[in-house]
Amino acid sequence: MISNDDLKIQQEKKVREIEDILQEYLPKQKGRQKVIMEAMAYSLLAGGKRIRPMLMKETYRLFGGSSRAIRPFMAAVEMIHTYSLVHDDLPAMDNDDYRRGRRTTHVVYGEDMGILAGDALLNYAFETAFRAFVMEPEDALLIGRALGVLGEKSGIYGMIGGQVIDVKETGHAIEKEALDTIYELKTSALIEASMMIGAILGGASEEEVKTTEKIAKDVGIAFQIQDDILDVTSTREALGKPIHSDEKNKKTTYVTLLGLEGAKRAAEERAGEAASLLGELPGKNEYLEALLMQLIHRDR
Ligand code: IPE
Ligand code: IPE
Ligand code: MG
Ligand code: MG
Ligand code: MG
Repeated sequence: MISNDDLKIQQEKKVREIEDILQEYLPKQKGRQKVIMEAMAYSLLAGGKRIRPMLMKETYRLFGGSSRAIRPFMAAVEMIHTYSLVHDDLPAMDNDDYRRGRRTTHVVYGEDMGILAGDALLNYAFETAFRAFVMEPEDALLIGRALGVLGEKSGIYGMIGGQVIDVKETGHAIEKEALDTIYELKTSALIEASMMIGAILGGASEEEVKTTEKIAKDVGIAFQIQDDILDVTSTREALGKPIHSDEKNKKTTYVTLLGLEGAKRAAEERAGEAASLLGELPGKNEYLEALLMQLIHRDR
């Protein structure tokens, strides 16, 4: 077992490695449209936890992956996630003015550039991921499969679909089943993409990729439940984003449905299921095991 201190030290190092990759893949800030490259860097390089590229890399390590093609995919998933946050914070959506410890992109660059910076990050994510073909042409088949997963899990059958239902169901009470669908889509889908792409590029079998998808689904739901909890129990300083955003927007969450203790238990249950499924996969990655547990006890 990895101690909490060791986990923290290793995690900080891994976050730095991911941020180096993000820097490497961000576009140069030039041309008459330079402001959009600035807005992309502003949102992407702010202090995010980098959980998705980290889960991608650690799943990849679990399967003993050794292709460089993982790097552009790590950057791509963080760009897509960041675009989802930039748009999630817009006045027409959650209307939040603080994110990752700084003012939101639309507050600094204007709503027009906020929308365009999100669009730009989404498009640039795919421009970035496509680079994998040139880097590792002999892995073309795996890269193609990984791209398919990235597209589907980000779109109407994944994250965007979840945000659509989230927005539609705002302002009135909904049942737990509907809430679970929202979480599976708005949050689990990108975590599924991250872990599945790590598995695919790491050479996992189809069966193993399916198991990985199930693990990531539980991880995503547990992660979102903890996000709901922190919206009530944390502070703006610790979180780097406003608290009580869900109450402001009259969102149904695990906390409104089950109370704080009930929500905590539900997150633990999901994380426990993820951990036991992880044990069914071949290989061992103690860091990944510890990370999954830490995600439901995180304070930001
Ligand atoms: C926030 O995601 C949105 C959710 C799905 C809960 P993160 O909590 O991963 O945000 P960052 O990337 O660390 O800012
Ligand atoms: C957002 O859920 C999930 C996304 C796809 C962006 P939230 O609206 O709860 O995320 P936060 O709390 O603003 O980060
Ligand atoms: Mg939202
Ligand atoms: Mg929000
Ligand atoms: Mg939230």
